[in-house]
Amino acid sequence: MDDASHAALVRAGGEFGPFDGRVWFNTAHQGPLPRAAVIAAERAAALKAAPYRIGDNDFSEVPERLRGLLAQLIGSPTEEVVLGDSTSHGLHLIANGLSWAKGDEVLVIEGDYPATVLPWQRLARSGVKVRSVRPQYGLLSAEELAAAVRPRTRVLAVTWVDSFNGRTLDLYALGETCRQAGVLFVVNASQAIGARPIDVSTTPVDAVVSCGYKWLCGPYATGFSWLHPNLLDQLRPQQAYWLAMQAGRGLDHMRETVVRDDIGVRAFDVFCPANFATTLPWMASLELLLEIGIDRIAAWDQQLVDRLVDAIDPAKYQLLSPACGPTRSTLIVLSRKDGTTEQRYHQLADSGIDAAYREGNLRLSVHLFNTIEQVDQALDALHTPIRES
Ligand SMILES: Cc1ncc(COP(=O)(O)O)c(C=O)c1O
Repeated sequence: MDDASHAALVRAGGEFGPFDGRVWFNTAHQGPLPRAAVIAAERAAALKAAPYRIGDNDFSEVPERLRGLLAQLIGSPTEEVVLGDSTSHGLHLIANGLSWAKGDEVLVIEGDYPATVLPWQRLARSGVKVRSVRPQYGLLSAEELAAAVRPRTRVLAVTWVDSFNGRTLDLYALGETCRQAGVLFVVNASQAIGARPIDVSTTPVDAVVSCGYKWLCGPYATGFSWLHPNLLDQLRPQQAYWLAMQAGRGLDHMRETVVRDDIGVRAFDVFCPANFATTLPWMASLELLLEIGIDRIAAWDQQLVDRLVDAIDPAKYQLLSPACGPTRSTLIVLSRKDGTTEQRYHQLADSGIDAAYREGNLRLSVHLFNTIEQVDQALDALHTPIRES
């Protein structure tokens, strides 16, 4: 890592914590707010405490500034970004906005995160079938996808980085296969965006959906979706939000109730997209991440992962997430060979290290504010004998 990158990350590290002296290895669950975001949250509260400080124009200008930052993050035009409050907001607007015929099919990966699967399962009442593909080696390949596609397959919905095993899918290979087969490719990127770069202008995807409160270090109830223009053309909004219909009109003129179809992505935005309590701090987080650069953050995160996976004792632990290569993510998933994984999770917590216990495994996730010293502290705690209680 060059000096400028190192300096930027050290500065960023000072923006987070100190977490009451604890070590946060659980961004896969919730990313912390940086200091600038905490200050922005306080400013949002101060605005609402004295609302004369909130101008009428803020209700349209603030969401557009947020949309612009998100577009910058993923390399898209602003006009392709929908503002949300979660991953589920984005996945539902796609599932509910497409027109379906009885017998249409959606492919998902067996055991994938529920948020990626449930919006399509709900379409059963319209006669849509959800079919699960079980990848032979735990990671769906383009060949397996090509073999699974049938004439009525309309959508492939996947999670880019898996929350339970930390594996990263190859969006290029799967996306190309989808394009050849005429299947829409919908990606839940909640465990990836912020920790790895994506440029949607060169990635063969139709939709990328993410929450904002993990790797993007935003408050809870944040999220967004990017929609390819071809997909946007196919989607029907399931709502007619009055403020969205106001686009281009001031609040001095509101009584006209026309359901407009000329407002593009804004027809899909979450209600109350200006929500200053969440948008202002999230924008501060995004500005920080963009200033450092996602490439730099990804390089640092991978340096931490390297340190951790290289020093895990293979006699004691099974590493369930990839040890190296492009399928590796920032989620490190482990199980104890002696069957004491859960006790180990509690022991880590007792020693001040917050990780996650999911599906019987221990999950440590590292991000820009974590340090090499913290990784070494976790390694010590992972390898000391279990204390008898
Ligand atoms: C892969 C994945 N998708 C989605 C979510 C959260 O979904 P939502 O933002 O809709 O609450 C999580 C949270 O852990 C997740 O790991």
